[in-house]
Amino acid sequence: MMRTTKENPPNLAIEFAGISLKNPVMVASGTFGYGEEYAELVDLNSLGAIVAKTITLKPRLGNEPPRIVETASGIINSIGLQNVGIEAFIGEKLPFLKKYEVPLIVSIAGETTDEYVQLAKTLREEKIPGLELNLSCPNIRYGRKLMFAQDAKATHQVVSKVRKVTDLPLIVKLSPNVTDIASIARVCEDDGADGVSLINTFTGMAIDVENRKPLLRQITGGLSGPAIKPIALAMVYEVRKAVKIPIIGMGGIMTADDALEFIIAGAKAVAIGTGNFVDPLTPIKVIDGIRDYMIKNKIKDIKSLVGSLQCPKGSS
Ligand SMILES: Cc1cc2nc3c(=O)[nH]c(=O)nc-3n(C[C@H](O)[C@H](O)[C@H](O)COP(=O)(O)O)c2cc1C
Repeated sequence: MMRTTKENPPNLAIEFAGISLKNPVMVASGTFGYGEEYAELVDLNSLGAIVAKTITLKPRLGNEPPRIVETASGIINSIGLQNVGIEAFIGEKLPFLKKYEVPLIVSIAGETTDEYVQLAKTLREEKIPGLELNLSCPNIRYGRKLMFAQDAKATHQVVSKVRKVTDLPLIVKLSPNVTDIASIARVCEDDGADGVSLINTFTGMAIDVENRKPLLRQITGGLSGPAIKPIALAMVYEVRKAVKIPIIGMGGIMTADDALEFIIAGAKAVAIGTGNFVDPLTPIKVIDGIRDYMIKNKIKDIKSLVGSLQCPKGSS
């Protein structure tokens, strides 16, 4: 039997919702732009996939600054979906990303169900590998109190309607700002989603006590980074028990061990977000570290690690 060594490397390739990935490590939406800025620093073709910054129908300038604040083991952002809009994305950003062999997952967001449907229809012609529905951005107001992913009915409406207009692999990005994330994941599965992506940021805030003013212009924003990792991990574990569709796990992944925790808890793929701001090479280091772990532990195929958590008998 061939041993797993550096010369005989383990298999990191995995299929996610019909998309073939070289390895399970993606970059998370909104933390890697449209790839251009990072291309000089990172070999984009080494990544499992790129999830591009969320696109809306019209360009958005985003919220007024200050819109990022550092907190203990994390950041709170209220960028507000600054993006070039679907037309410029297709005309100016997509050609660059299509030059690479790395699968591209395009993230979209609308203020109404119809906007999601329009965006999905527009992208049908573009031969992209996958679509992510961002139903969980805490920073744009939908003219309603809740994000789509905080409301099972709203989630159902968007996912079922978008499913009808596209055959692309459809991944839904979930919000952690809910009481039962597994029930929202179940709605996505029932409505034909091919995968779920979790988690987006937690609503958070920070205050300057000297002048008693919020540190963000929007007052609240989305917390990300290592501070949220244990909660994200527990949510991935819960969702894995509730649905059969594959999961992209994220929230505070900075190291290979962090990523392995998500994979063992049940994520078929993982994504790096805030880690890209700390060190653009984080995803590459995570991929290398997963490979080293597999060699050390004689694991031939990454698939055997997914959901391989060993729970004591009698625990749930
Ligand atoms: C500055 C910033 C911008 C983000 N923009 C988006 C976005 O456009 N769309 C989206 O789905 N998630 C967005 N996110 C959320 C991340 O994709 C990710 O879900 C979250 O940050 C948790 O992962 P992390 O702790 O590794 O950053 C953003 C996060 C940050 C920090």
